[in-house]
Amino acid sequence: MERSQRALILWRMATSAGQHSASAQRESSAAPPIQTEALFKRYGATLAVEQLSLSVARGEVYGYLGPNGAGKTTTIRLLLGLHRASSGAARLFGADAWREAASAHRRVAYVAGEPALWPSLTGEETFRFLASVRGGVDLAYRKQLIERFELDTNKRVRALSKGNRQKVALIAALCTRADLLILDEPTSGLDPLMEVAFRECVHEAKALGQTVFLSSHILGEVEALCDRVGILRRGRLVDEGTLAELRHLSSHTVQATFAGPVPLLPCLDGVSETGREEHTLSLRVSGEIAPLLAELARHELVGLSCREPSLEEIFLEHYDRHSGR
Ligand SMILES: Nc1ncnc2c1ncn2[C@@H]1O[C@H](COP(=O)(O)OP(=O)(O)OP(=O)(O)O)[C@@H](O)[C@H]1O
Ligand SMILES: [Mg+2]
Repeated sequence: MERSQRALILWRMATSAGQHSASAQRESSAAPPIQTEALFKRYGATLAVEQLSLSVARGEVYGYLGPNGAGKTTTIRLLLGLHRASSGAARLFGADAWREAASAHRRVAYVAGEPALWPSLTGEETFRFLASVRGGVDLAYRKQLIERFELDTNKRVRALSKGNRQKVALIAALCTRADLLILDEPTSGLDPLMEVAFRECVHEAKALGQTVFLSSHILGEVEALCDRVGILRRGRLVDEGTLAELRHLSSHTVQATFAGPVPLLPCLDGVSETGREEHTLSLRVSGEIAPLLAELARHELVGLSCREPSLEEIFLEHYDRHSGR
């Protein structure tokens, strides 16, 4: 509970302080919800986050992807001032994540990957306690969320299943309507119906202008929700962009069916064969597709399909391209 206690203390300081100067408030209202510059975090010999420069704009839903151990949770801990960066800077709404954590937390709600709750409190007591610490909770929305997520708030947290504990943490965060939601694998343990409820909540948050930073292993979730995606690997941001941008840079799958046997085609840059039958040729194309289409058009085609990669394919291709995990 040590980490959650520090978070709670910071949270209490943030909510009770309320002594932002007018100029500081003006500055923070213009600053991006999340900004890091050349952020490094070393744990002994492990370099968990390396040279990380991120910027998340107001109202954006940002998906943070990476394999196990890539540094996603570490990034989030640095953003929340739960761990101290080895070097570099992290800012939330312009406030330094470590030195000014209390003021940064006024506008943030957080769901941890493994939420540390109080086992002997019921869901209802947990909500009441967190609301008394933080204030500014939308009670009507909380009631609605409890119904939507079908949570029994009379049970003690220790008696709840993993998915139901996750719901407590999610509802507690969402009902704050905080300007920035930082969610570390928020749907791990939720069943598919609850996943749908979660997606609705993120859409609602976005519609209200809230910013969402979401780490996830569920690529369909990220694909459905996120405006922009960052892919982290061994602590480094190896790719970032909108899904359209990532797709543009990734391979397309092309399948051409010819009237006769598959003709001999010249070697083209970025084009590789992935399958062949009597009349059908399957190809993977990275980069510009026009030269291949021009070449195929020289032959009698009876069918042609071209498919953009799914986020899953982009993600997996990254690992191939960078060899190993
Ligand atoms: N408190 C710590 N002490 C030592 N090493 C740590 C600590 N926290 C994280 N690490 C190491 O930092 C690296 C990044 O871990 P992190 O938890 O950030 O990964 P992650 O991307 O969140 O992974 P997952 O998808 O499994 O949640 C790992 O090598 C991990 O072992
Ligand atoms: Mg993690």
